[in-house]
Amino acid sequence: MTHSSRRTAGVHRATAAILSSLAILLLASFAYGHGALAQSAVANPSADPTLAATPPMGWNSWNHFANRVDDKAVRSAADAMVSSGMEGAGYIYVNIDDTWEGKRDADGFIQSNEKFPDMKALADYVHSKGLKIGIYSSPGPRTCAGFEGSLGHEEQDAETYAKWGLDYLKYDWCQPTGTREQMIAAYTKMHDALVKTGRPIVFSLCEYGWNKVWEWGPSVGGNLWRTTGDISDRYFSMADIGFGQNGLEKFAGPGHWNDPDMLEIGNGGMNEDEYRTHMSLWCILAAPLIAGNDLSRMTPFTIELLTNREVIAVDQDPAGKQGYRVAQEGPFEVWMKPMADGSKVVGLFNRQRTIEEIVVNFSQIGVNGAANVRDLWLHKDLGSFRDKFSAFVPSHGVVLVRIKP
Ligand code: GLA
Repeated sequence: MTHSSRRTAGVHRATAAILSSLAILLLASFAYGHGALAQSAVANPSADPTLAATPPMGWNSWNHFANRVDDKAVRSAADAMVSSGMEGAGYIYVNIDDTWEGKRDADGFIQSNEKFPDMKALADYVHSKGLKIGIYSSPGPRTCAGFEGSLGHEEQDAETYAKWGLDYLKYDWCQPTGTREQMIAAYTKMHDALVKTGRPIVFSLCEYGWNKVWEWGPSVGGNLWRTTGDISDRYFSMADIGFGQNGLEKFAGPGHWNDPDMLEIGNGGMNEDEYRTHMSLWCILAAPLIAGNDLSRMTPFTIELLTNREVIAVDQDPAGKQGYRVAQEGPFEVWMKPMADGSKVVGLFNRQRTIEEIVVNFSQIGVNGAANVRDLWLHKDLGSFRDKFSAFVPSHGVVLVRIKP
């Protein structure tokens, strides 16, 4: 195709996309009343709730391997997920991020590049370990790393993923701009294509929280959607993102989750207290727990942090309620997650550089009188407390407790 005919095709596609999004919006306002799309947390949810009844758990290649990911790295991540005990703790998805894409064949079907000689064989290998496997693409012509995107080939790509035996798709909006209508149209198109394959495939939307994706994510079939830009392996990046999630809790629930990006635990850029804050906060947020480190080289501390079952149970609680901030005094924050059994998980977070005592008053978390308090990182019952609980919290650290009236 010449440059100009490619451009014309692009314009036609864009016009078609705008027309179909207008149609969707018209239908939506007939069905739900004016402005309902913007107001409802789960407008017309078409996300399959059986696919991600609790926040997805797994690993993704990007944070550690970026463009160095290959077949060998993915196999060794799968091996380590089992041997480290992560699989036993609930991690299941082994996800290949960007840079696997090769050229399209003469019929337009995508091929993997030389780093992935046989995607079907790789998927079979991951499945043979009792795990599931995911992949990455973009709704535009190019992915964020400049590889082949899915634009105009959505059905073919979905078919290919199903043929390879894939279970999860991260679909990443890499164009510099995009309206809500364009995004809704593009994500709906891929979701329809995935559904058409008949294979259950978790649909992970990645568009950095633009256009308030949480308001429409479920309606385009999103099981999770990114709420922020990219995380980096630094306390201030993680803390900005994590503590910035307050207020989004009403948009999450079984089958559809806010995604504050993948974990950096074990990548080396934060100290132990900071990584403990990262894990605690993501669990209070009912965030997807997608590890982003090299699973084949983990310290005992990293494994303990990623596999503490009492902490993971907070994230995976069947009620699927995302936690939120209940109190703040400058850099000291108290967050709470209501659990299915009526207990409350509370994180006392210290964002300052000195150790500090932080208190939670039971009235702030809807508990009257006395309650039992258990430290989830220490696996230790701390006893019965009346009206309040307080603890000394290290710099950039957390004390995470479960409070049962
Ligand atoms: C974007 C996403 C990242 C990763 C890269 C890959 O930046 O937010 O998580 O997928 O693209 O290119």
